[in-house]
Amino acid sequence: MLTDEQQALKPNNAKMSARDVNVFYGAKQAIKTVSIDVDMDNVTAFIGPSGCGKSTFLRTLNRMNDTVANARVEGDITLDGENIYAPSMDVVQLRARVGMVFQKPNPFPKSIYENIAYGPRIHGLASAKADMDVIVEKSLRRAGLWDEVKDRLHDSGTALSGGQQQRLCIGRAIAVEPEVILMDEPCSALDPIATAKIEELIHELRGRYAIVIVTHNMQQAARVSQRTAFFHLGTLVEYGVTSDIFTNPKADRTRDYITGRYG
Ligand SMILES: Nc1ncnc2c1ncn2[C@@H]1O[C@H](COP(=O)(O)OP(=O)(O)OP(=O)(O)O)[C@@H](O)[C@H]1O
Ligand SMILES: [Mg+2]
Repeated sequence: MLTDEQQALKPNNAKMSARDVNVFYGAKQAIKTVSIDVDMDNVTAFIGPSGCGKSTFLRTLNRMNDTVANARVEGDITLDGENIYAPSMDVVQLRARVGMVFQKPNPFPKSIYENIAYGPRIHGLASAKADMDVIVEKSLRRAGLWDEVKDRLHDSGTALSGGQQQRLCIGRAIAVEPEVILMDEPCSALDPIATAKIEELIHELRGRYAIVIVTHNMQQAARVSQRTAFFHLGTLVEYGVTSDIFTNPKADRTRDYITGRYG
């Protein structure tokens, strides 16, 4: 395993590529000609002031904007070179390959077991109960939750603490064997201890999945990511190695933001 510093300096190994992406809500343009690669080996943080388009851009990566009335996406986005907006793309399959974790933990009102088993069942990943048991245990272990819930798998997922619910949601995303995991401010509803657990988990998941995390917390971006993208007013101002962005930003707007001058 490479140190964080060695990791940060490795060249990019793109899993997803976005080129000249524009997003409109009706006539209003929320994302302006954004091009970026999402790296397989590095965690990418999206930062920037409220309303700059972080969530909007994140949602283009698994076509969640398809579900937003009025939203229109232009440009090219590929996953392993394949255009995700091609008519032949199966969107349900895409969202399993590019999973998403939201700001507010949103477990299904079902048991812990069923929260994990639901996706694999729809996608036909397990035929026998024993196979499903293996997937559930593996996913919960990977989400760092197994030891806390193994004796109560049939309790409701909504009865867990907020931090546990968020790890359950990460486990649910993991259960369908994603390649990319998108996280939109996954810790903003959590206390510092639960936040630290999620950050630790992100470290453990790095390399196995391409991970993008939106965060308002500069320290968090510095701790969990090796690549950082700074957005402002719908544009991607700067993208690079996290330590460079935080210690030696190229753009004045980036410097102003990370030093807390606005945002
Ligand atoms: N469904 C929508 N309809 C119309 N406009 C929207 C919609 N969602 C977002 N917007 C607008 O698009 C712009 C970008 O919003 P977005 O939610 O992507 O920002 P953000 O960077 O994620 O902000 P925050 O940090 O507050 O979550 C904002 O001006 C917002 O008002
Ligand atoms: Mg947002």
